[in-house]
Amino acid sequence: GDIQEGMGDRQPREPPVENGWIPYMGCALQFGANPLEFLRSRQKKYGHIFTCKIAGRYVHFLCDPFSYHSVIRQGRHLDWKKFHFSASVKVKSYKGRCLSRTSTRRLCVSNNLFLQAFGHKSMDPSHGYTTENLHKTFLKTLQGEALPSLIENMMENLQSVMLQSNMLKSSSSEWEVDGIFAFCYKVMFESGYLTLFGKELDGDKTIARQQAQKALVLSALENFKEFDKIFPALVAGLPIHVFKSGHSARENLAKTMLHENLSKRTKISDLISLRMQLNDSLSTFNELSKARTHVAILWASQANTLPATFWTLFYLIRCPAAMNAATEEVRNVFKGSNQKVDPKNPQLVLTREQLDNMPVLDSIIKEAMRLSSASLNVRVAKEDFLLHLDNMESYRIRKDDVIALYPQMLHFDPEIYEDPLTYKYDRFLDEKGQEKTCFFRGGRRLRYYYMPFGSGVTKCPGRFFAVHEIKQFLALVLSYFQMELLDSEVKVPPLDQSRAGLGILQPTYDVDFKYRLKAL
Ligand code: HEM
Repeated sequence: GDIQEGMGDRQPREPPVENGWIPYMGCALQFGANPLEFLRSRQKKYGHIFTCKIAGRYVHFLCDPFSYHSVIRQGRHLDWKKFHFSASVKVKSYKGRCLSRTSTRRLCVSNNLFLQAFGHKSMDPSHGYTTENLHKTFLKTLQGEALPSLIENMMENLQSVMLQSNMLKSSSSEWEVDGIFAFCYKVMFESGYLTLFGKELDGDKTIARQQAQKALVLSALENFKEFDKIFPALVAGLPIHVFKSGHSARENLAKTMLHENLSKRTKISDLISLRMQLNDSLSTFNELSKARTHVAILWASQANTLPATFWTLFYLIRCPAAMNAATEEVRNVFKGSNQKVDPKNPQLVLTREQLDNMPVLDSIIKEAMRLSSASLNVRVAKEDFLLHLDNMESYRIRKDDVIALYPQMLHFDPEIYEDPLTYKYDRFLDEKGQEKTCFFRGGRRLRYYYMPFGSGVTKCPGRFFAVHEIKQFLALVLSYFQMELLDSEVKVPPLDQSRAGLGILQPTYDVDFKYRLKAL
């Protein structure tokens, strides 16, 4: 507003440009081996905001948490669905985390999940399949009134999966050994899959049918792993047919999600059934493309949850104080509602209110995600404008420029989180043992200090369900199992940086633990 061009030294400026930074060819969000170090060193050199030219486009990295708000609040200058319908065939995109194929020399930013990586065409807005509609669909089917039935089904599925015979082969008093990631994968994938996509119709409960159902989920799990492996490369813009097994894995997943197959299932979530309806009534997709939209949802619902569950359980088992506090909280909640832990008759339930009143588990989950999340938040400038920072400086941003936030900078900031690399299970608890929301930097209270789910309009619509399902998982493993690390001195496995920008990072290797049923 008040600052205009040609006004002497108050002239609007553009952020300093880092020229020496060329992304690797075909690599998504390559900040080099260590994006955090890269951004920190440039922040030191340039200050709160600086620009990298990536594939012909200007990307402004905003590093001052007190200025985040000017990007996150939905101002008229910034767009989050910009490229949704621009359907550039050459550019593969995934929700604002994407780089172009080198041939196009463009950075494409889109905040939509319905992407080329999943192999179906853009939704056609003329049929009412707009970004807003899709967004509303998510909010309606993943939040508020949709939560109780998601919670109820998840709780039932978790118990039947974690107590079934292939998890506990030997007699119950003997230890089972497994990787923590492998364990979390098996339990969370199957439970989450059944909760969203339903189960086979109840009518036929023969052993053979149950085994067939089990085989279907296990093969979905293997296909999911195979597809997830190549996901960073797809985001980077590499064409999927380069990856034979990843490609066929995606197509196998899609086949199981053809509407004709889904319609034979029961207890399908509102999310999937509503999206089946929309696919049928509003899209011009063929059957396979419709099925691929469900693969996209499967990916969104699992890709972050699985590593988040791993880190939560790993740090928890490793920290006796956390184990004690969590076990106590869980015991009290079940006791308070007169429920008995009995693996022979597994019928524990947790209401949404109970789940929302577990501050210790909440802090344990937050702390694990603080240490493992590396998502990138992006917005695109709709027009030339001045970005006002908290320190009263303003910078000129041009139309089509990208503004990026990298919240890992907050999560690992020693001025916000003392000893940021150290796991402290109670970091997010206040003196009263309730959720802590007061975090400071340089004596000033922060509005943004924890952002693994993104921010503003593009915030993950599944975040409540995600936290609930991890809490449910923890409540159940703590109730049913005794768990120990095989090597109590085991080091924290490094984060797999190849996924930086995409969400919760995976461990570079798994860590073994043992578990057995608790004596009643
Ligand atoms: C999008 C994180 C679990 C559904 C996102 C985004 C992030 C994120 C960072 C992108 C926001 C942006 O574009 O800036 C996480 C984490 C999870 C998790 C850390 C678990 C720990 C889930 C679950 C579901 C889900 C369980 C649901 C079933 C979605 C969907 C989108 C999304 C549908 C895309 C929204 C859109 O494009 O409009 N998530 N998520 N997420 N998430 Fe999650």
